[in-house]
Amino acid sequence: MRIHVLSLFPGIFDGFLQGSIVRIAREKGAIDVELCDFRSFAAGRHATVDDRPFGGGPGMVLKPEPIFAAVEALEDTHGPMHRVMLTPAGRPLDQATLRRLSALPQLMILCGRYEGIDERVRSGIEWEEISIGDYVLSGGEVPAMVLIDGIARLLPGVLGDAESAELESFSTAGAVDHPQYTRPRDFRGMTVPDVLLSGDHAKIEEWRAQEAARRSEHRTLGTGTSPQSCAPQM
Ligand SMILES: C[S@@+](CC[C@H](N)C(=O)[O-])C[C@H]1O[C@@H](n2cnc3c(N)ncnc32)[C@H](O)[C@@H]1O
Repeated sequence: MRIHVLSLFPGIFDGFLQGSIVRIAREKGAIDVELCDFRSFAAGRHATVDDRPFGGGPGMVLKPEPIFAAVEALEDTHGPMHRVMLTPAGRPLDQATLRRLSALPQLMILCGRYEGIDERVRSGIEWEEISIGDYVLSGGEVPAMVLIDGIARLLPGVLGDAESAELESFSTAGAVDHPQYTRPRDFRGMTVPDVLLSGDHAKIEEWRAQEAARRSEHRTLGTGTSPQSCAPQM
C-alpha cells in the first residue's frame, strides 16, 4: 500500500518512519509512505501557503491553490486515489475505518495547520473527513501518524505470528482486549491470576473472555478499567 502525506512539516515524520511497526511494514514492502510538502506547489518568491481569513478573526488559513496543485500533481503521477482530510470536524476514527482504509492500494492524507484549510479545498475535492477525537491539535501530522500506524499493523505479514490484529481490542465492535501478564509472577505483592498459570487452556480462554467482557462493559459505562485491576494485593 502506498500512502501519500501532504504536509507543510514533513520532518515531523522522520523518527516515526524509522521506528517500530511502521519501519517493519516499510522494510517488508507492505507500506510505502511518501511525503509531499505542498509548500513546493505555492507560487511566488515566498511560496506563501497561508493568508488571513476573510471576515477577520485570529490566525491564518491554508490557501487553496497549493493544495489543489499538489493533489493534481500526485494524481497525475500515481493515478486517482482515496483521499483523507484530517479535521476535528471529521468522523471519529475507529478500527473499522482503519480496516477499510488498509485494504486500499493507495491513499492520500492531507494534514492541515494553523486555523485550518480554505473551505474550497473541502468542497472542490472529494475527501473522507476524519477526526482522531474531540480535541484540537496544532496540525494534522500527529493524526496522520495515528492513521498510518493503525493501518500498518493491519497489513498482511506485518505483525508476527505471535501477535495478531484479529485478537485485539475492537476487532469486534466496542470490545476491548483482556488483561495481559508476564513475568514476574509476583510484583510488589500483585500476583498473576492462578488460572493463567494453570495450563488449562479452556479455563484460560474462559477467563480471558470474561475479563474482556467486563472491561468492555466498564468502558461503555465510562468507568474505565476495573478498580481492582491495578490494586496491589497486600
Ligand atoms: C489547529 S487545527 C485547526 C482547528 C480549527 N480551527 C477548528 O477549530 O476546528 C489545525 C489542523 O490540525 C489538524 N487537527 C487538529 N485536531 C485534529 C483532530 N482532532 N483530528 C484530526 N485532525 C486534527 C487538522 O488537519 C487541522 O486542519
